[in-house]
Amino acid sequence: MRPFYDNGSFVEIYETNHSAFSYKRSEVIKNFLENKKIKVKNCLDLACGTGLFLNNFCKTCDLTGMGLDFSEKMINFANKNVNNKNLTFLLGDMTDFSINKKFDLITCNYNSINEILDDQKLNNMFICCYNHLNNGAFFMFDFNTPRKYIEGKKYNYYKEKDFNMVAERIKEKNNLVLYNYHIYKKTHNNTYIIENTQMYEKFFEPKYIKKLLKNNGFKKIRFLDENFKRTNVKKLKRIFVVCKK
Ligand SMILES: C[S@@+](CC[C@H](N)C(=O)[O-])C[C@H]1O[C@@H](n2cnc3c(N)ncnc32)[C@H](O)[C@@H]1O
Repeated sequence: MRPFYDNGSFVEIYETNHSAFSYKRSEVIKNFLENKKIKVKNCLDLACGTGLFLNNFCKTCDLTGMGLDFSEKMINFANKNVNNKNLTFLLGDMTDFSINKKFDLITCNYNSINEILDDQKLNNMFICCYNHLNNGAFFMFDFNTPRKYIEGKKYNYYKEKDFNMVAERIKEKNNLVLYNYHIYKKTHNNTYIIENTQMYEKFFEPKYIKKLLKNNGFKKIRFLDENFKRTNVKKLKRIFVVCKK
C-alpha cells in the first residue's frame, strides 16, 4: 500500500502545523542529554518526516544524523529543504531496516509508531532499533494511548493562509482510529481545490509497549511527560519513552 504521506499535498503543508512539536522535541532531548552529561556522536531518526527535528537537533548538538522514512515525498522534501552536510535521509521502512552502522541515539517522534498497525511489525521495529544501537545507547520515542480517543477532540480545524483543513477522528474496534482529512487548498484565482485522504492509527496501552520493550532487551524504561518529567502516565494521552540498550 502507498504510504499515506505520498498522497495529495499533505507533505507540502505538513510543517505549517507540526513544526512546534519538532522544535520542542529537539530542545527537550538536548537538555536531557546535557543534564545527564551524555555525549552522543550520532543519531538515527526513524519516521523522520520532513527532517525538521533532526536538522534542529543535530545543529544544536553538533552531531551527525540519519533520517529514515518510507514516504518518498517526505524524503524528497527533507533532501530538498534541509541544508546540512552532517545529515543524510534514506527511504526505508522502520519496521524492517538494516543499516551497516550503530548509533548512540535512535529517536522516533510525533506518535509515528502509532502508524504501525501490525503488532508483529512493531515488535520487529523494536528488534531493529536494538540491533542498531551501541551498548548503553538510548532509544526515545512517543506514542498515543487510548486516552486520546476518550479525551481528545473528534474534529480539529486548521485555518492557514493557503489552505484550510478539517481532521475528523473515528474510533473503530481493536484500538484502531480512522482519520479523515479534508484539505481545502486555495488556488491562484481564490477558488478552492478539495483533497480528501484518510489514514489509520493504532493506539497502544502503556503496559503493552513496556512489555514489548522489555522482551526485546531494553532496560531502564521510563515513561515520561512531554518535558521528560516523571508523572502519573495513566493520565497521559501521549507518553514519551526513554530507554537504553
Ligand atoms: C506524524 S509523521 C511524523 C514525522 C516526524 N517524525 C515529525 O516529528 O514531524 C509520521 C511519519 O511516519 C512515517 N512512517 C509511518 N510508518 C512508517 C514506517 N513503517 N517506516 C518509515 N516511516 C514511517 C510517515 O511517512 C511520516 O513521515
